[in-house]
Amino acid sequence: EDLGVVAVGFSGGQCKPGVDAAPSALIESGLLTQLRDELGYKLHGDEQVHLYTDLVPKEDPDYRGMKNPLAVSAVTRRIADQVYEHSVKGRMTLTLGGDHSIAIGTIGGTAKATRERLGREIAVIWVDAHSDINTPESSDSGNVHGMPVAFLTGIAKDEREEYFGWLRPENQISVSKLVYIGLRDIDIGEKRILRENKIKAFSMFDVDKHGIGRVMEMALAHIGNDTPIHLSFDVDALDPMWAPSTGTPVRGGLTLREGDFICESVHETGNLIAVDLVEVNPSLAPEIDQGAHETVRAGCSIVRCALGESLL
Ligand code: ARG
Ligand code: MN
Ligand code: MN
Ligand code: MN
Repeated sequence: EDLGVVAVGFSGGQCKPGVDAAPSALIESGLLTQLRDELGYKLHGDEQVHLYTDLVPKEDPDYRGMKNPLAVSAVTRRIADQVYEHSVKGRMTLTLGGDHSIAIGTIGGTAKATRERLGREIAVIWVDAHSDINTPESSDSGNVHGMPVAFLTGIAKDEREEYFGWLRPENQISVSKLVYIGLRDIDIGEKRILRENKIKAFSMFDVDKHGIGRVMEMALAHIGNDTPIHLSFDVDALDPMWAPSTGTPVRGGLTLREGDFICESVHETGNLIAVDLVEVNPSLAPEIDQGAHETVRAGCSIVRCALGESLL
């Protein structure tokens, strides 16, 4: 099977340096080699970690409270093109981030490609401690990695091309085809948005109450059979015990096995078209024994499960 790989060392959607080093760390730990040699994928891509420094302007003042708005908009626009090129050819697409703002590009790209290629809307499974659905106005931090879902659903928008106005209807997803898993740290404004738009969300409460097996049945039932699925996995969905090296860790998260199970279940549908792995930051939590190493290892496991490693 063909696999398009996009490696994005971008950290401008939040304030902590270091997530830009994640793709190299994941690749150096052997992830792509395993996907090729053990899982049998034919890899496509330029085998390069993109830092997109050429797209980062010297002056990038806050706009509607967003930090680095021009940079995040320009970089995600470029990512959307790259992902689109893989996806429109029918390749499974893997994006290694970077912070979660890059999902504006990855999902924007697969949404457009899938409309063109299959005439279908995609579903998105967003695995995260956070719902990342702030509007610029509801956000307290101004960090765009807390806003990608708002821009992708059209809940947040801007007329100006250079401030995400490049996102067209064909890049967007519908709120009814979005499912969250793993939530446990949602801002007040986000709760309102989730409620008002009746967005399907399985929090850690639901995982504890029903078990991950039942949660996945319900999540996939909500999406419906035969819908192309984009899986966007924020490593902070995992408990910091498994993934300490991330910018916004929240205790009480998924076990590594629950994270892997989510990915295996999505793979098993046969409808997976793209995977993002984001927010691995190898420079954080070094005080924890082997923190970065463990987080990279967890990230690799997540990706391999999504791409079918546990299939007998
Ligand atoms: N809700 C917070 C914010 O908007 C945290 C977002 C964390 N997002 C993430 N992709 N780790 O700033
Ligand atoms: Mn998160
Ligand atoms: Mn996130
Ligand atoms: Mn398979």
